[in-house]
Amino acid sequence: MKICVLPGDGIGPEIMAQAVRVLNALDLKFEMEEALVGGCAVDATGNPLPEATLKLAREADAILLGAVGGPKWDSHPRNQRPELGLLGIRKELALFANLRPAILYPELANASTLKPEVVAGLDILIVRELTGDIYFGQPRGIELREVNGETQRVGWNTMVYAEYEIRRILRVAFEAAMKRGKRVCSVDKMNVLETTQLWRDIAIEVSKDFPEVELTHMLVDNAAMQLVRNPKQFDVMVTGNMFGDILSDEASMLTGSIGMLPSASLNADNKGMYEPSHGSAPDIAGKDLANPLATILSAAMMLRYTFNQEAGAQRIERAVKKVLAQGYRTGDIYEPGTKRVGTREMGDAVLAAL
Ligand code: IPM
Ligand code: MG
Repeated sequence: MKICVLPGDGIGPEIMAQAVRVLNALDLKFEMEEALVGGCAVDATGNPLPEATLKLAREADAILLGAVGGPKWDSHPRNQRPELGLLGIRKELALFANLRPAILYPELANASTLKPEVVAGLDILIVRELTGDIYFGQPRGIELREVNGETQRVGWNTMVYAEYEIRRILRVAFEAAMKRGKRVCSVDKMNVLETTQLWRDIAIEVSKDFPEVELTHMLVDNAAMQLVRNPKQFDVMVTGNMFGDILSDEASMLTGSIGMLPSASLNADNKGMYEPSHGSAPDIAGKDLANPLATILSAAMMLRYTFNQEAGAQRIERAVKKVLAQGYRTGDIYEPGTKRVGTREMGDAVLAAL
């Protein structure tokens, strides 16, 4: 059981340290090896995804990633953007299925900006396609063109999905729904975009293989609105890369803090990369303020999906519930009357609760 550990940038190293402590406490005999990705890799090698990192990621059974990016690298050329490290691993390892659960822990109901009755008991799974769409579509670029008789810069990207890409992510969504509430809401923009007309057609085709699952469709603008109006209407939401990026951030805030949400990015063999849904939070990096729970919960997802260690996964998840019940809170989920702790202390609390 080999894990490639990629702490990355910003708060990445701090939150990763806590997740590694939790994994080591489980006595499951993991072999862990660390490598550089993102901005730190750019600084060290000029490349956000160095060859050695990609090699290790390929060899390992699973990858645990902290976060990448930060303003420090904003002025670098586009081929040195830290995000390319992340996008490169997703693409090279064909990690097409991104699972982003948005679960509200009862103890955090007041941390949500929505009324408690709107979010109490929330349990949504967003299934986001991760290796296609406008993120990777060719052609793309910025170039000079003649527009209205003058030379102007024009930027363009291509939204493109092949049938097999849509089919396989829809299958993941339906299979996940079979283990949950048996409802899939497929999100598209078929009133405007042909790509997503195809998406909807294929969703209907795939649904024939899952007669027990109820399939509904929603346009993405309405879905964004429904997520804040009545989020509990959803069970599994499935959508493309771009829409999924946006909707999963929105869904995460329903739960009070993006600092709580793990994610899994899987290939066809359940090899996966596991990472918190949040970013590198450079403003609080190195200050022992970040919430390590999303990374710790990502490690639990890793045990479940890649290593088939359901018992270990539940042990971690129970420990996280326990520390919340005990009142431990990092700044992002703090409210008066609870115990404010730093990153490391939160890790200590989870270790004690294991
Ligand atoms: C995410 C992030 C990434 C994405 C960025 C960092 C490239 O926002 O995982 O949601 O857009 O996929
Ligand atoms: Mg995002």
